[in-house]
This record gives sequence, C-alpha cells and structure tokens, in this order.
Amino acid sequence: MDIRFATEATGDSAVLMACEGPTLLDAGKALDEKAQGAVTRAMAAARFNGGAGQVVEILAPGGLDFSRVLVIGLGNLERADALACERWGAQATRRTIASGAQQLALLIDALPNAGAADAAARAAIGARLGSYRFDSYRTRLKPEQRPSLKEIHVVVQGPAAAKSRYEKDSSVADAVYFARDLVSEPANVLYPEEFAKRLKKLESLGLEVTILGEKEMADLGMNAILGVGKGSVRETQLVVMNWKGARTKGAQPIALVGKGVTFDTGGISIKPAGGMDEMKGDMGGAAAVAGAMMAIAARKAKANVVGIVGLVENMPDGEAQRPGDIVTSASGQTIEVLNTDAEGRLVLADALWYAQEKHNPAAIVDLATLTGAVIVALGNEYAGLYSNDDDFAASVQAAGTHEGELVWRMPLAPAYDKMIDSPNADMKNIAGKPVAGSVIGAQFLKRFIKEGTPWAHLDIAGTAWKSAPGEDPVSPAWATGWGVRVLNRLVAQKFED
Ligand code: BES
Ligand code: MN
Ligand code: ZN
Repeated sequence: MDIRFATEATGDSAVLMACEGPTLLDAGKALDEKAQGAVTRAMAAARFNGGAGQVVEILAPGGLDFSRVLVIGLGNLERADALACERWGAQATRRTIASGAQQLALLIDALPNAGAADAAARAAIGARLGSYRFDSYRTRLKPEQRPSLKEIHVVVQGPAAAKSRYEKDSSVADAVYFARDLVSEPANVLYPEEFAKRLKKLESLGLEVTILGEKEMADLGMNAILGVGKGSVRETQLVVMNWKGARTKGAQPIALVGKGVTFDTGGISIKPAGGMDEMKGDMGGAAAVAGAMMAIAARKAKANVVGIVGLVENMPDGEAQRPGDIVTSASGQTIEVLNTDAEGRLVLADALWYAQEKHNPAAIVDLATLTGAVIVALGNEYAGLYSNDDDFAASVQAAGTHEGELVWRMPLAPAYDKMIDSPNADMKNIAGKPVAGSVIGAQFLKRFIKEGTPWAHLDIAGTAWKSAPGEDPVSPAWATGWGVRVLNRLVAQKFED
C-alpha cells in the first residue's frame, strides 16, 4: 500500500476524526459544511457519540466528491493521544480495505495530546498495521475478497514534518509484518532451518547473523534444547543476531532471547488434537525477537543488542525424548524431563546460558509462548511479566504501555522455586501439582540467570496470536507480532546512548 502525505484531500473515500460529544474536529467540520450538514445528520441518525472505535459510514454524500465518508471516534478529546490516532488509522483501513475504496484520505487534526505531525504519522502507522493480511496461500480469492485499497493520503497541515516522522517510525511496522508472517507460516514451510535462512537475510540491514547447528550445540553441551528436537527430522538451530550500534564500542549489549518451537505437538506427552494447529505459532517469541532486531537495525539504533533464538520442532518419534529422561543443560545443571510438552523452558535454558556465556549482557529479556496457564490468568490482553529487578520490570512495563502492548507483573518466590526440585536431578521441568503454571515456568528460567543480571521474562502464550481476531484494530489477523514494539521501545528508551 502506498502512503503519501498532502495538504489537499483527494481520493474516493475520506475519514474524519470525531471525539466524544460527539464533536467533529476542524477538518470534519469543514467537510460537513460542504455537505450541508449531511455528516452531522448521519452521526445523529446512527446514535454515534464519538467513542473510540465507533464508526459511521456515509455512502455517496451529496455536495462532495467522495463516494464514501467515514467518521471514526477517537474517544475523549483530552485523553486522545498518539496511540488513539494509531487505532483510529487502523480502524479506517480495516473498514475500507476490501470495500471497493481505492484511495483513502485520512483527514488529520492536531489534538491536545498529539501535534499534527505526530497524529498524522501515527495514524499512518496504524493504517499499515490494520491492513495486514496473510493471503500468500489463498490462490482462489474472488475479486470482492481481495483488498481494493491502494493508496492512503494522509491529509495534514505540514505534511513534510509528518512524512519524516512516519519514515522514522515505519520500520517498526515492517518489523511487525515480518514477525506476523513468521508466526502465520505453517510448520511444513517454516521449520528451524528455513527460519534460520530467513534470519540470515537480515544481514542486508547490517546485522551479523550466526547460525549454530546440532553439531556446534552438542559441542557446547546444549542437551536441553537438543533433547527437544530429538523426535524431529528437522535439524535444531540456534541463531544469533548481533547489532553493534553503540557509540562506546565494547558496551555490554542487551540480550533478547526467544522461544522458537516451530511446531509443538507436545512430543511423547502429546497434546490433544483439537486446536493443535495453533502450535505452529509456538515460535512467537523468536518471531518477536527477530522483528525487534530488524527494527533496531533498520533505524540504526545507537545501542548494542544481541538477539538469540532457539529454533526446534517438538515431535513424538522412536528417537524422541521420553518422560523421565534426564538431560544435562549447557549450564551444567541437570533436568528431569517429566513432561515433554514443557519444552519451551528447555529451549530457553540453553539459549539463556549461551546469551550470558558468550555475550555478557547488561540485561536480558526473554519472550516465549511458554504456558497455557498465562492465558487462564490474563487472557489475550496482557502478557505475563516476571523479573528479578524492579527497575527493569518498570521499564519493560512502561515500554509496553507506550506501544499498546500491555504487560502485567507476576510474582516470583522461593516457595514456587522449591516446587521444581527433583529427587533425581537438579530440577524437574514441571511442578508436582498443576498450579501456578506460568509462575513455575518463570521460576525454571530464573535458575539459568546469573545472580545480578537484570532479567525479564514475558510469557506471551496469550498475546502472540488471537483465535478470534477482530477486537484490536491494529492487529486484524490471527498472528499479532506481539513483542516487536515493546522490545524496540525498551531499547530506544533505556539502552541507546
Ligand atoms: N507451547 C505451549 C504453551 C501454549 C499453550 C502456548 C497454549 C499457547 C497456547 C507449551 O510448550 C506447553 O505445552 N506448556 C504446557 C506446560 C505444562 C506441561 C507444564 C502447558 O501450558 O500446558
Ligand atoms: Mn509444549
Ligand atoms: Zn511449546
């Protein structure tokens, strides 16, 4: 989709901003006058009150050149900020993408909490995020099912400033697309080696990308991740993406670590059949890390960042690991694998060790679709946040709030840690009783973090995809790309010099 910035409203369709009241903003008022009040009459007829996300659609209004005018609510004027503009822009494209409209004019007004350039740039980002589709395998779409929208005209006073703002921020939208595509790809197409190949291509952005195969991992003693892949015919991979953008050359990096289980059958502790297809998305943490690295490199962030993803397929097979197997992780700690479906923590155990052993990070964030239990606790709205450092946790939380990727802090405590002690090994990979499942996963990971390194774990099992998309305008498809933005923002706010 082509996005351009202009002062004149052109195109076949127009979108107006309105706030609670309802009140049209200046650009909308001018248009309404031209249409002799048709817009305000339609608003009243539809009982539109300007609430966030409310939409009135007026077809072929008299007195205007537009064949379609949409009024979309921003909510309360005093509270409408850049994020509200983003959601507004997303609503606009979602409502019109396959409507027959070809050029959409977004009429932007400055708001008390978002200047014109900011509001325009964020509306444009929202328009892009809201028009995401995963259509690559749909070869028989009827013309009316295909996107009709070709151009977005962002209409604003001072289009040049808005455009440069948009260009600065748009790499994050590209990166969210990249992550969503990875999560959406089926596991017969996206298996560990193919995933690694796609990451290797990020070298064109200036990232240094290293791929470790099973032989290299075995030499490093990474038997926890290798155990997970034993039942798969696909080779397990560990990919390291390095961005060295800090002014101080040897500055310690922030490490971003992702769970990349390209398909999770559960292994010998096999999952029930219903909904198992969704486990193609069990690499959502790795996708978020990959997307964040892409955004960080594309905008040439002044920070050292290393992204590490453990890529593996969890399958049942004659070679697969069994419940009761004991593996020695690269850290030297032994793990009794009581449930082969609690595999994400085994992947991260070695990936986290590698991050600390080889990159001496100043801080670590890991992302993983780790537990169904976090969905029980938080649904699809918030990701679970666990951390050993209050300041760091607050930074992650603030980055998430800023970007509309919400996180909720959950507890860690010695009483939970005790529950994974094993009589046969240093630890077991599940607790004795099925309680506090998401906390237990986090406690397990914590055993692989060196004392004193600020660490945050995000359990994104509820946010990496949505079985029923439609609520969130910026995330219209099954895969959300959740995490790209929070990581990119965290780096921008806390780690750039
Ligand atoms: N990938 C799953 C977690 C998951 C569940 C993600 C649902 C998204 C939606 C993970 O590997 C898993 O199977 N976890 C088990 C852990 C249990 C065996 C302790 C779970 O949550 O049931
Ligand atoms: Mn599993
Ligand atoms: Zn899993």
